[in-house]
Amino acid sequence: MEHGLADPVGTGPGRVLVTGAGGQLGVALLEAFPGARGFTHADWDVTQPAPVLEVPALVLHAAAWTNVDGAEDDPQGAAAVNVGGTANAAALGAPMVAFSTDYVFDGTKQGPYVESDAPNPQSAYGRTKLHGEAAAGERAWIVRSSGLFGWTSRNFVRTMLRLGAERDELAVVDDQRTAPTYVGHLAEAVQEIVKLPFGVYHVAAGGDCTWAEFAEAIFEEAGLDCRVRRITTAEFGAKAKRPANSVLRSEKGAPTLPHWREGLRACLSRLDTSGV
Ligand SMILES: NC(=O)c1ccc[n+]([C@@H]2O[C@H](COP(=O)([O-])OP(=O)(O)OC[C@H]3O[C@@H](n4cnc5c(N)ncnc54)[C@H](OP(=O)(O)O)[C@@H]3O)[C@@H](O)[C@H]2O)c1
Repeated sequence: MEHGLADPVGTGPGRVLVTGAGGQLGVALLEAFPGARGFTHADWDVTQPAPVLEVPALVLHAAAWTNVDGAEDDPQGAAAVNVGGTANAAALGAPMVAFSTDYVFDGTKQGPYVESDAPNPQSAYGRTKLHGEAAAGERAWIVRSSGLFGWTSRNFVRTMLRLGAERDELAVVDDQRTAPTYVGHLAEAVQEIVKLPFGVYHVAAGGDCTWAEFAEAIFEEAGLDCRVRRITTAEFGAKAKRPANSVLRSEKGAPTLPHWREGLRACLSRLDTSGV
């Protein structure tokens, strides 16, 4: 079995290439890999072949179509980014970390999903991400994570902070259980993942919670006086089907991340509240 990189950071400035560099994970990866070269959506639309480049030492592929409900309306648009874009990133010819999702699972398992569990995506987004895993090729670490939040971009934490400051009560889904993962912790773990053999790895925060429990923790940590009304997935009525249980754990020795509550505190301490 081919093994990973011994020291990716030591490969010199600009030798690590980050796609989706304007997204919440991309921003965190640029911080965790000092000297990495970031490509935002404007720099490189990954549905197109890569700009002509020297072959990097490592590609961290964080560009993706992440609008889960929007993918139901435009599955081919989502596939162009999540499958075609991953193939274009793989065509750079370097070892690659490709980020994937808990939404490749159907959510019916009792207990956490491990790497050997069979995927069965229930949404167009989940299907494109699963096909994207295959498009990453053989020299890739497929890193599945869940419920990403960070200090930039659109995410659950920033949305709750905005709505929680405006309202006395918010209705939040209480029958989907996951492990909300702080992008700073995930990005740091990538340093360790690239020392492992290529393959699929589950890398998510410790602990788990429902979205309603997570919202309550956000309000508590942020000192916001907003009640959470616990509702069902059916009551919320989102377009795309989401797994009821999407807690990820590794059976392959992937790095373990701090508990989601610790991630939440780390995120809140550096949150960019502009344009939430
Ligand atoms: N968010 C989650 O809860 C979650 C959970 C599990 C796994 N993941 C996976 O983690 C990875 C990072 O997600 P994220 O949370 O950082 O998402 P994000 O904040 O939405 O970032 C994705 C980035 O990709 C860019 N992008 C979209 N289409 C592109 C294209 N055609 N060419 C180049 N760039 C494009 C976006 O730019 P624009 O905004 O300008 O379009 C955005 O900057 C993705 O693979 C995602 O599937 C996310």
